[in-house]
Amino acid sequence: MPAVLAAAWSLLAAAFLAALALVPRLRRPGVVSGLLQDLVRYGKTKRGCGQRPGWLRLLQVPKRWFTHFYVVSVLWNGFLLIGLFQAEFLGGSLPSWIQYVHHSLGRDSQSEDTDSEHFSVLLVLLLLWLHSCRRLAECLWTSVFSNGVIHIVQYCFGLGYYVAVGSTVLCQVPTKVRNGKELSVHICWYHIVGVTMYFWASLHQHRCLVILANLRKSKSGKVISLSHSVPFGDWFERVSCPHYFAELLIYVSMAITLGFHNVTWWCVVMYVLFNQALAAVLCHEFYQKNFSSYPKHRKAFIPFVF
Ligand SMILES: NC(=O)c1ccc[n+]([C@@H]2O[C@H](COP(=O)([O-])OP(=O)(O)OC[C@H]3O[C@@H](n4cnc5c(N)ncnc54)[C@H](OP(=O)(O)O)[C@@H]3O)[C@@H](O)[C@H]2O)c1
Repeated sequence: MPAVLAAAWSLLAAAFLAALALVPRLRRPGVVSGLLQDLVRYGKTKRGCGQRPGWLRLLQVPKRWFTHFYVVSVLWNGFLLIGLFQAEFLGGSLPSWIQYVHHSLGRDSQSEDTDSEHFSVLLVLLLLWLHSCRRLAECLWTSVFSNGVIHIVQYCFGLGYYVAVGSTVLCQVPTKVRNGKELSVHICWYHIVGVTMYFWASLHQHRCLVILANLRKSKSGKVISLSHSVPFGDWFERVSCPHYFAELLIYVSMAITLGFHNVTWWCVVMYVLFNQALAAVLCHEFYQKNFSSYPKHRKAFIPFVF
């Protein structure tokens, strides 16, 4: 059933696209729109919805718990990475339950030369793990969180997300076994392009998160405020949410590293595109509503486009 994963990610992408299209309607008062708003907004963009009923506030957890997503990701994707590395280079094998999932959801390779495909997947799993390590470090030591909240459903979704995304990467290893042959490393041009783009986007994402953190610190680095203000510098000069745009570029860089042709991964990219576009639109609205002098030329998400 190699198409199941692509279908699942497409469905998620479609759900976020629908939520994006519904944003103008969500502003109307009503119980249903209130419930939907509660599910799509988080952090500072939740503050603009006014006072929420007490029972809805029981279903919220601190936004700083984002940290837990990356703890789960570092552990789960680290475990998959070690397993795959052993299976590819040291003649080991993945645990039987993972092999079962892989054979059920993985894809058959059409190409003769599958060595580069095996290497691409290993590389993307490594990039995903490094991304999670950096994000965990940023949550722990860079970002300054306020008392913002997220819905418990968003929290559970976030916990499952990085397990699902790493498992999706693993399932891109062709199920056709290489008959115990050790993997020979084939570095292709698209590995170099993908990895270069990954580091470039990661660098900008980190810089933008540092800019956000510095808005709440004094020159000496002491936290002096937990309020939201207007960020300037780096890609913030072009868009309201450059860290979301960088996230999209990171996933595109992984699609490139997989050799451009991996349909399942492009479905993951579509999910990230619509998920981050929704968050960016709400954040852009927040800035425009709360800061009268907000730069007019700034787009929400994609420079010059959206
Ligand atoms: N792949 C995915 O599906 C996915 C989903 C969600 C997020 N992400 C990634 O995770 C990263 C963080 O996302 P996020 O939604 O948490 O970003 P965010 O809402 O912009 O928050 C990032 C940090 O900056 C603070 N902050 C935000 N705006 C600020 C302002 N105007 N003034 C001062 N401080 C401000 C936040 O504090 P408070 O919010 O605590 O006030 C938080 O500490 C992003 O790089 C994003 O791409 C990925």
